Amino acid sequence: MLEIDIISVHPGMFRGFLEESIVARAVKKGLCRIRMRDLRDYTHDKHRKVDDKPYGGGPGMLMACPPWFEAVESVLSENGGKRSRIVMTSPAGVRFDQRMAAEFSKEEHLVFMCGHYEGFDKRIETLATDLVSIGDFVMTGGELAAAAMVDATVRLLPSAIGGGMAAIADESFGASGLLEHPQYTHPPEFRGMKVPEVLLSGDHAKIERWRKAEALEATRKAGRR
Ligand SMILES: C[S@@+](CC[C@H](N)C(=O)[O-])C[C@H]1O[C@@H](n2cnc3c(N)ncnc32)[C@H](O)[C@@H]1O
Repeated sequence: MLEIDIISVHPGMFRGFLEESIVARAVKKGLCRIRMRDLRDYTHDKHRKVDDKPYGGGPGMLMACPPWFEAVESVLSENGGKRSRIVMTSPAGVRFDQRMAAEFSKEEHLVFMCGHYEGFDKRIETLATDLVSIGDFVMTGGELAAAAMVDATVRLLPSAIGGGMAAIADESFGASGLLEHPQYTHPPEFRGMKVPEVLLSGDHAKIERWRKAEALEATRKAGRR
């Protein structure tokens, strides 16, 4: 079972995410365990302070070493000897993609470190096995980045989603490297827009050929090939 720990100063941000959705179902099915850790629980002053001014001056505050080292070391000491992948969320990290989600889904234990303010004291990076970004933009914190990565990872766990691995096989960024072909459901015509004839034909070989051609075209149009 994949174990996931998420360390954050805003653990409440994950409430809806952990109570609804495929991720919640995966937890209920026992496919993974997700535990929120409040970084402030690893402080020892009455203000539960996790940040401080940057040396050399500059705007904003930085997350300080002591609570982060204590939090990560504490999480690792409780993981029962599992192999851990410790992911620091950072705009400067390697770009997260489907290949990384697949890798994460095969791990035993993932720890997500959610930064805030102006980011982390550089020395905190020594705790991480990976620095990961979800794109070239800056968010106020790492929570949404961690949630995106957890979602993309958990849905790849066997039997996490309806339709199982077959539902995942044809998806965008899968083994074929193509984006997914267009899909349609009822009704067959809506406001003058018709479902392509071939999908109503019942000819499975023809449908497969059409889907492959459409996937190639979608991939080419998006400039992914
Ligand atoms: C305001 S950002 C810090 C930005 C930092 N001063 C910089 O210029 O790179 C605060 C935190 O949000 C998270 N974060 C922001 N954007 C992110 C992204 N694109 N991918 C992953 N994490 C991100 C990181 O944990 C980061 O430490």
